[in-house]
Amino acid sequence: MSIITTIEDLRVLARRRVPRMFYDYADAGSWTESTYRANEADFAKIKFRQRVAVNLADRSLKSTMVGQDVAMPVALAPTGLTGMQHADGEILAARAAEKIGVPFTLSTMSICSIEDVAARTTRPFWFQLYVMRDRDFINRLIDRAKAARCSALVLTLDLQVLGQRHKDIRNGMTAPPRLTIPNMMNLATRPRWCWNMLRTPRRRFGNIVGHASSVSDMRSLSSWTAQQFDPALSWDDVAWIKDRWGGKLIIKGIMDPEDARMAVRTGADALIVSNHGGRQLDGAQSSIGALPAIVDEVGSQIEVHMDGGIRSGQDVIRALALGAQGVYIGRPFLYGLGAMGEAGVARCLEIIRNELDLTMAFCGLRDVRDVDRNILLPGTW
Ligand code: FNR
Repeated sequence: MSIITTIEDLRVLARRRVPRMFYDYADAGSWTESTYRANEADFAKIKFRQRVAVNLADRSLKSTMVGQDVAMPVALAPTGLTGMQHADGEILAARAAEKIGVPFTLSTMSICSIEDVAARTTRPFWFQLYVMRDRDFINRLIDRAKAARCSALVLTLDLQVLGQRHKDIRNGMTAPPRLTIPNMMNLATRPRWCWNMLRTPRRRFGNIVGHASSVSDMRSLSSWTAQQFDPALSWDDVAWIKDRWGGKLIIKGIMDPEDARMAVRTGADALIVSNHGGRQLDGAQSSIGALPAIVDEVGSQIEVHMDGGIRSGQDVIRALALGAQGVYIGRPFLYGLGAMGEAGVARCLEIIRNELDLTMAFCGLRDVRDVDRNILLPGTW
């Protein structure tokens, strides 16, 4: 465990331990992966102003996201099939997040159900909703999230159609895995993963089992998504979902200032500047590149969050400096989960927390809520 000092260390370990099909599912972007790469690369261009001889005692990373206290402004992003990176993955990640004091967001497309996660955690988590054609089913999901005392709904708007990921197609991506000869040979090299899976009964999509066309007989994730997700989704749908939910609402997948203005009009509590981790529109701008214009447009009217490409505490502080109230990490925690289960997710968050704290100090600040554009070198963002 002590040799794990970076998110990259977790990624390397996860690649060794998770079956290729599921590691690739997490690691891939869409088409040429140019947006996926830009998400990370654009962070590295943003430079800090180093300050010295300021009092750095008693530093604080505490903040709030949608009015809720967080130990640091970093949440775990909703990720589908998290339970295929490690058995009971959603429960383990939620528990790690709860110990560190940051929000965990459960995906509609999770393996463990809303109720599974609620039963094995003590603090409220957030639930992410995809808009499907079957509105009764959405109502039922919202009711289940309310019954489980989820404290925010993250409504994802950028998956009306599914970005094509070449690796998933080549790997025959299904859950449970399609047992082709190459997949079986690969599984044979991952005995720890297989053993953990065999010990847990949860290997299906917990939130959508029982739905009209259950995924238990799903052959292809992409064709199932195309059938179920609503390509006709509109801002009117956001309004009725907001009414039905009645709690904190976060709109995910905003990349354009005009859409940001629409999100403000819905009365949502926050929006997430996100290109789905480069998994949807390849060729779109990086999330960190899109952030400043959206903050300038609507930052005084709605809380702006962001995700995509964060691989360190330095990246977190860059996003905060450009106006994000909070950020989300997707792949970093999945790498931690695949590498070492709950301990790996905790390790991921500890690495980010430590880097965030030290970077803030090097920039001459003691309170994360004071981070603003002044800590960045002009002309580098
Ligand atoms: C995702 N993402 C995602 N988003 C969402 O709203 N619902 C979902 O079910 C999923 N599923 C999903 C699976 C996997 C494997 C990944 C990597 C991502 C997108 C996710 O919430 C987030 O926007 C990105 O992961 C952020 O980028 P990074 O941190 O992975 O670079």
